[in-house]
Amino acid sequence: MAEENKSSLEPLAALCKRRGFIYHSSEIYGGIPGFWDYGPLGSEFKRNVKDAWWQFTVRGREDVAGLDATIIMHPKIWKASGHLDTFADPMTMCKECKKLMRADQIKDIYEEQKKKPQPKIAGADFFCPYCGGELTEPKPFNLMFKTIVGPIEDPSNVAYLRPETAQAIFAQFTNVLSTSRQQVPFGIAQMGKSFRNEVTPRNYTFRSREFEQMELEFFIRPDEAIEILYGHVVTLADNPDLDGEVQQDWGWEVWHKYWVEQRKKFLNAVGLPSERFVEYWQKPDELAHYARACVDIEYDFPFGRQELEGIAARSDFDLSQHQKHSGEPQSVFDDPLKQAAKKMDEQARAAFIEKVQKDWVSRGKDAEEAKKFCEDLFNGRYIPHVIEPSAGVDRLMLALLCEAYEEQKLTDDKGKEDIRTVLHFSPKVAPIKVAVFPLIKKDEATYKIARELFNKLRKKVNCFWDESGQIGRRYRRQDEAGTPWCITVDPQTVEDGTFTVRDRDSMQQERLTYEQFLVKMTEALEF
Ligand code: GLY
Repeated sequence: MAEENKSSLEPLAALCKRRGFIYHSSEIYGGIPGFWDYGPLGSEFKRNVKDAWWQFTVRGREDVAGLDATIIMHPKIWKASGHLDTFADPMTMCKECKKLMRADQIKDIYEEQKKKPQPKIAGADFFCPYCGGELTEPKPFNLMFKTIVGPIEDPSNVAYLRPETAQAIFAQFTNVLSTSRQQVPFGIAQMGKSFRNEVTPRNYTFRSREFEQMELEFFIRPDEAIEILYGHVVTLADNPDLDGEVQQDWGWEVWHKYWVEQRKKFLNAVGLPSERFVEYWQKPDELAHYARACVDIEYDFPFGRQELEGIAARSDFDLSQHQKHSGEPQSVFDDPLKQAAKKMDEQARAAFIEKVQKDWVSRGKDAEEAKKFCEDLFNGRYIPHVIEPSAGVDRLMLALLCEAYEEQKLTDDKGKEDIRTVLHFSPKVAPIKVAVFPLIKKDEATYKIARELFNKLRKKVNCFWDESGQIGRRYRRQDEAGTPWCITVDPQTVEDGTFTVRDRDSMQQERLTYEQFLVKMTEALEF
């Protein structure tokens, strides 16, 4: 985004509306806060972002399997996961103007309001940032949307729209394990809609009430199992090669860092250079009670630095909770582990138990549980631990839009100045990959070739046909849509089969044959 536009989303939002990327949901009825629709370009862009994630995370790997679960699931899932009891934001209301707001966002809202007419009472957090009125005591407000399953409106039929896709992965863990021929370490990935009844949806599509997630739960052996198997556990202090093949003797810390690096590679591949985001390692007192580490990848949006995605090491918390609440065992049998444990004599086992107990107690856990855990390990059983890279589709799209947007000042040969609005999308996510133009609409021979070329190309990628207006204007229309290549068929095409390919970013043209263009495009689209 050009420097002067960094502080405001307005020019980008205007482009998104004008060109059919993003609309308010239900706009003809005045819209509905926190809900957004993707138009013709936006829906293609979204599909490409999701396909890129799926290719990178699932199809491009041998150790990840996919899942597509329902949005409404058994309500006990949300009891087990903790969402029913704790997935809440502190809500407060102004006694005067009746505005609802999140108590933890009052400072931010106040900052935003400073740009607008001043409130009656300024400065103090506990007064309404809009009118200065007195606020009610903050109360927790559960973010899950409720619904009723079946025709009877009874509390026993209450269900919830999922607030995250992750829990379905845990709930289907044993099914996927037994049907996918995967073994720990392996992952299960899912993408799809999630719903959070945000008190105050804000910042365009960043915090919406209906949104999409792309989540991976990567299941790993507990470090104690690795110790038995290999006699050591590789930690970050060992400087493991995170760019090479994954290794069986990695401990959780290394797996966690590996996935942080993988996510960064993905973001680079779809058009966010590393220098444009920051890794924020949560401090011990910021971690959720089940997390051993969590990294937020943050991006500088025009409205401030915000989390793009999180990579959490969640221990065995989720599967253990589901085992407890469902009564269904969630442990795996690991034969190599059992064979390795068989080689340990009584003395070695006792020393191992003592060491594990010491470690667990130092982390506030129970010594008896540690002993039981070790005995299960000796029998080749454990509940896998998990590393969770969790990304939001909509916020990634917004970051890519912000990153791609530029208003370029151009000066032509005669010194005339002009502004070119361009979206510098990576070809991998660009909604239209190639636009095809006949140079002269009325020239039958070039028109026919251009049309044939367009029909051939659109069997492979999303293409756009444009025959109206001057060629320069056609280029500009595609620049605003983020189309990486524009092909123009001219009289020379009739003679030698070559056409001009105009590059969106450099605005340079080259003459290529169909085969040469295919090679160029395929290379740019591949992961
Ligand atoms: N599963 C993590 C999240 O939804 O944020």
